Amino acid sequence: MSNSTENKHIAVFAFPFGTHVIPLLNLVIKLAKAAPHCSFSFISTEKSNALNFPKPHIPINIKTHNISDGVPEGHPLANHPIEKVNFFLKTGVDNIHKGIQLAEAETKTRVTCIIADAFVTSSLLVAKKLDVPWIAFWPPVSCSLSLYFYVDMIRQHHANCDANATMDFLPGLPMMHVVDMPHDLLFVGEKETTFSRELVSLGTVLPQAKAVVVNFFEELDPPLFVQDMRSKLQSMFYVVPVSFPTLSVTDSSGCLSWLDTKSSRSVAYVSCGTVVIPSPQELEAMAEALEESGLPFIWSLKENVLPLLPKGFVERTSARGKIVSWVPQTQVLAHDSVGVFVTHCGSNSVTESLSSGVPMICRPFFGDQGVAARVIEGVWETGVIIEGRVFTKSGLLKSLNLILVQEEGKKIRDNALKMKKTVEDAATPEGKAAHDFINLVKLIFTP
Ligand SMILES: *[C@@H]1O[C@H](CO)[C@@H](O)[C@H](O)[C@H]1NC(C)=O
Ligand SMILES: *[C@@H]1O[C@H](CO)[C@@H](O)[C@H](O)[C@H]1NC(C)=O
Repeated sequence: MSNSTENKHIAVFAFPFGTHVIPLLNLVIKLAKAAPHCSFSFISTEKSNALNFPKPHIPINIKTHNISDGVPEGHPLANHPIEKVNFFLKTGVDNIHKGIQLAEAETKTRVTCIIADAFVTSSLLVAKKLDVPWIAFWPPVSCSLSLYFYVDMIRQHHANCDANATMDFLPGLPMMHVVDMPHDLLFVGEKETTFSRELVSLGTVLPQAKAVVVNFFEELDPPLFVQDMRSKLQSMFYVVPVSFPTLSVTDSSGCLSWLDTKSSRSVAYVSCGTVVIPSPQELEAMAEALEESGLPFIWSLKENVLPLLPKGFVERTSARGKIVSWVPQTQVLAHDSVGVFVTHCGSNSVTESLSSGVPMICRPFFGDQGVAARVIEGVWETGVIIEGRVFTKSGLLKSLNLILVQEEGKKIRDNALKMKKTVEDAATPEGKAAHDFINLVKLIFTP
């Protein structure tokens, strides 16, 4: 990097919820290493920063700043998963400005570029005011980006068609069903929230970004989708999604040594992520299916829901089942013994499963998860959506048998293995993302 980059100061705004922060931080770490003389200010809420900083692998040219989470002191909904988001988004432009002031005061350098999670749209207004480029980062499932450009048509379809109707107007994604859409996108009138209005605005906001950076592999996305997005955005770059270098994966739960004792591709790994808890009925159905299947399984489950499982289930299955509250997921999925991932289809989980060649059984809950599930089943053909889109004993048994046992499931198993190779190739210096990263660096750091 030339000297001209030395005064560059990039302010980064995170969306401090769910699994949005870590992919953004990964991108910023990559950029900070590529431009060691530039300053990066990573601006998020105190809670979120406390989780991710300080860590030994974070370069010293990244500093953190805390801004308000917008929750009124002692508010009863302070921990409500949706209200938290609305509180934060309502802090708007003023809160973003505060972050800029903190960052400039510490570095004594003017901010020259804003990189923000696409969901923090008010940072665009601040970028405009400062007259600096705004770069939006897209951590959700890549294909869900398309929806925000077709909101009116999707809403019309939702109003006029049944849930199984497909949406052939979505370029590259004609297999999407009405039922796959994020609910927030369908809210109109009284049901609208700060968050849903924000989402709906993305179709006009994102084309104002100098670039939209997608946390995925172009090689896996439908070409017509990519082409359509490129025609609507100033630029779109893909960056290789990476998991944190797990510095010290201690196998505290014993999952990895347990997997070592199982045969190849025989184990069902079950996890609905950190946010979702299935209903008591679904938990019961999952347990019944796992018990009746006779399969070895690892089930990631918080301790407080254990009482909801059928009486005696844990004891009866203890010889072949492992229920743990925390799982080193990347390593578990990469283990040869895992044969299927029963998942809520969060974007990080999907990427990790694809990277490990593990087929998926999809039970999407909210947001982009329905789109992810449809792409898994209908585009990559590396998994299936569970019958009726909820866990039932018979539905889960049917999918487990298909993927782990039946000859009919071979195509899915083979596709998953092929996908692993595609992902490996896409992540090399010859992959498209490596090229995109060079262009992204140029865009940010060229005076
Ligand atoms: C931000 O919050 C974290 C976590 O509480 C704290 O350790 C850190 O000192 C705060 N940073 C600043 C700049 O105040
Ligand atoms: C949608 O398709 C499923 C599976 O084919 C079927 O069971 C269900 O009844 C259909 N729903 C509607 C509203 O047509």
